[in-house]
Amino acid sequence: MTPEEFIHTETQPTDGQAGWIQSVRWNASEHRLDLLDQRLLPEEIRYLPLHTSRDVWEAIRHLAVRGAPAIGISAAFGVYLGIRDAGGDAAAVLEETRKQAEYLATSRPTAVNLFWALDRMKARADELASRQDLTPAGMKQALLEEALGIQAEDEETCRLIGEHALELFQDGMGVLTHCNAGGLATARYGTALAPIYLAQERGISLRVFADETRPVLQGARLTAFELQQAGVDVTLICDNMAGMVMSKGWVQAVIVGTDRVAANGDVANKIGTYSVAVLAKAHGIPVYVACPLSTIDLTTPTGDEIPIEERPDSEITEGFGKRTAPVGVKVFNPAFDVTPNEYVSAIITEKGIVYPPYNVNLAKLFDI
Ligand code: MRU
Repeated sequence: MTPEEFIHTETQPTDGQAGWIQSVRWNASEHRLDLLDQRLLPEEIRYLPLHTSRDVWEAIRHLAVRGAPAIGISAAFGVYLGIRDAGGDAAAVLEETRKQAEYLATSRPTAVNLFWALDRMKARADELASRQDLTPAGMKQALLEEALGIQAEDEETCRLIGEHALELFQDGMGVLTHCNAGGLATARYGTALAPIYLAQERGISLRVFADETRPVLQGARLTAFELQQAGVDVTLICDNMAGMVMSKGWVQAVIVGTDRVAANGDVANKIGTYSVAVLAKAHGIPVYVACPLSTIDLTTPTGDEIPIEERPDSEITEGFGKRTAPVGVKVFNPAFDVTPNEYVSAIITEKGIVYPPYNVNLAKLFDI
């Protein structure tokens, strides 16, 4: 799928005047999903009009939408788009929901929020199908509401993560982040960027260093963009500058998002996070990981069991259309790495801040 395959629904200049930009929008009047095409940022704000679960699958696979929570939210809407024209009774709608969820689960492997959201849609369909009072149309409407609910909850969750994380920051601190765990990657606020937005709202001044995040440049194209739009003090650096910036004493904390936290507190996040964490430890700088509970996967014992996506060589050899490596060179392009738990100072969730030992304290989050 290339951006050209989609009709433009909205284009705005990215001149710092656009305000808050929502990455996932349910378009109720057109009955479709509008997804901000994040591949075009920071040059252009354009929404892709998506009508089918296949459209959503393509958008996830090809990074039009990315970031663990935003992937999960989009997939939930994808399930709805996949079942809305299904014929038959409630059992048939349930069967189709399961089929669509199975299909959307193949879009990307690492972010567990994808599977969490799909499981939630399936569980809701199960519950609805067992009721006698619902028509298939009513069931479909309830599944759309479930997807809208997942999105609304994520906004609230991110705000709570920001509130808890803010306890860890003081006025004047330098904060380094990697990849994009901001509003673009979630329903709003982000995970790692949520405390930065809340700090700004409350007059606490933080100076953010955004790693550019090779090879797809989520840090440069997305984090620097959204923080700049919001008027946050952000300085863009290449990934290989993080050590130097730390050695100068400009960074007092690292905060990143994550795609999956294993039961022992190992965290998978965008490739390069592990290097940043090792550098931070060498400089005595704490590393904070911010995520919703839906990113914590207690069924995955350690980081070794987290599936790590490998992406096309072309992201490295001819990223953004320019050949930067010899034709035929061997390439290794993992999209994520695992940071072992000993490098993680704290994990911040909507339920509060979790400290080591993670194999004990993460499970407590799920105690009812
Ligand atoms: O490949 P991406 O852009 O989907 O990777 C995104 C990240 O690694 C984010 O840090 C993570 O999903 C957390 S988003 C709140």
